[in-house]
Amino acid sequence: MAPDLKKPSSSVSILGLGYVGLCTAATFASRGIRTIGIDIDEARIEQIRRGRAPVHEPQLGEMLKRVVKKKLLDATSDVSRATDTNTSFLTVGTPSQPDGSIDLTYVKQATRELGKALQKKQSYHLVVVKSTVIPGTTNGTVNPVLEQSSGKVVGPSLGLCANPEFLKEGTAINDALHPDKIVIGSNDKKSADQLTRLYREFYGSRLPPVITSSPETAELVKYASNAFLATKVSFINTIANIAQHIPGVDVNRVADAIGHDPRIGHLFLKAGPGYGGSCFHKDVQALVSYSQQQGYDPQLLKAIEKTNEDQAIQVVELVEKLAGPLDQKRIAILGLAFKKDTDDIREAPSIRVIDRLRNKGARLVGYDPMAMPNFESVFGNTIELAKSSHDVLKGGDCAIVMTEWDEFRRLKAKDYIAQMRKPVLVDARRIYNPAEFRELKFAGIGFGSEPLGPGSQAEPS
Ligand code: UDX
Repeated sequence: MAPDLKKPSSSVSILGLGYVGLCTAATFASRGIRTIGIDIDEARIEQIRRGRAPVHEPQLGEMLKRVVKKKLLDATSDVSRATDTNTSFLTVGTPSQPDGSIDLTYVKQATRELGKALQKKQSYHLVVVKSTVIPGTTNGTVNPVLEQSSGKVVGPSLGLCANPEFLKEGTAINDALHPDKIVIGSNDKKSADQLTRLYREFYGSRLPPVITSSPETAELVKYASNAFLATKVSFINTIANIAQHIPGVDVNRVADAIGHDPRIGHLFLKAGPGYGGSCFHKDVQALVSYSQQQGYDPQLLKAIEKTNEDQAIQVVELVEKLAGPLDQKRIAILGLAFKKDTDDIREAPSIRVIDRLRNKGARLVGYDPMAMPNFESVFGNTIELAKSSHDVLKGGDCAIVMTEWDEFRRLKAKDYIAQMRKPVLVDARRIYNPAEFRELKFAGIGFGSEPLGPGSQAEPS
């Protein structure tokens, strides 16, 4: 019988079922590629085997349920199951160390376990480093650990590639299904070809541009990408902080105008309280630390981080400007997550702002549609938490929009006036049109006070 050409022949194993690993595993399986997810956390495995997502990510839950039911995805703690597949992805975490450099403990552990399992395997096996690692890690760390533990030599029977991911929280599934590029770093053609073939099976005619390079280049691409995006955010926040001093200027208009220049582009030019999340801060820090180890002091990168940290000062200054001294003032924090549609509070600007407000003696009450359980588990009852976006405003002396949730966009000036002791609002995410909030004492990141220009054009973008 002729082989069914449409049926994927590849099978993959994913080591590390954290955020990236799980989204990667689910999307591979969703394209009919037999996938084995491997993790040391038994409780997590049990959850995944029942088709439940242990992290919040739109579309992930339904996708998991579907692929587990169809037996395209299985989860296990048994690393030896990786040998039943022809490609293994390392997607374990690379957490920050106090000096900003990354901790490779999990990468080494997972590589060692995988290598041991591969000892007896006869046929070719490809190992792919998807974890975010500094240039030189795939060749300098993963390669020797893999060779030692497997007793094989990387090359003819054992492949090794670096293949960074660019998933965004909240849109990770869509990003994995429609990436703008695939970056494959390899030392030999055989491994790069096998990985390209796998992605061709995955994407079919929609295969995005595949950029092949050395592993070191691929590793640097990931850092350069996140550092550049962080640069755009700190840049527009700098312009916003200047704009704030110029009556009639609105940073959103400036961003829109400069974005028309294709050399600049519109994306990632939204001024706000600073970037957060699990990647930007961690990756810029790691790049700074790596660069310094090489003997080059990357001043631009350090300024990007400092600008971001200090953006919390700008938010608190706006609060003080409007509400006066903060001691004993009741301040409502609308949003704790680092961006909307996620329950993730890692490096969230809300935490930096809360910290400063507490130091100034303010009494804080927070609300977030999704991130309150995470906030509570890290910060306990350091601040009061409210039940709803109306509740959080009750008796407040000032409210600050820290996350751009749609739920907050629906609040009108009258809602603030009805609930607050003093209707004072700082829109740190620029979700509101200032013209509609004239009855309140209102300030936003990046626009000068009156006059706002023809027809009060300051707008949320
Ligand atoms: C980021 C990268 O986008 C992704 O490619 C990488 O794989 C992981 O890191 P993520 O952390 O999920 O993804 O969030 P992202 O949507 O990029 O936003 C990061 C932060 O920047 C958020 O706090 C967001 O609010 C902020 N941001 C983003 C701005 O303040 N202004 C903007 O214009 C864009």
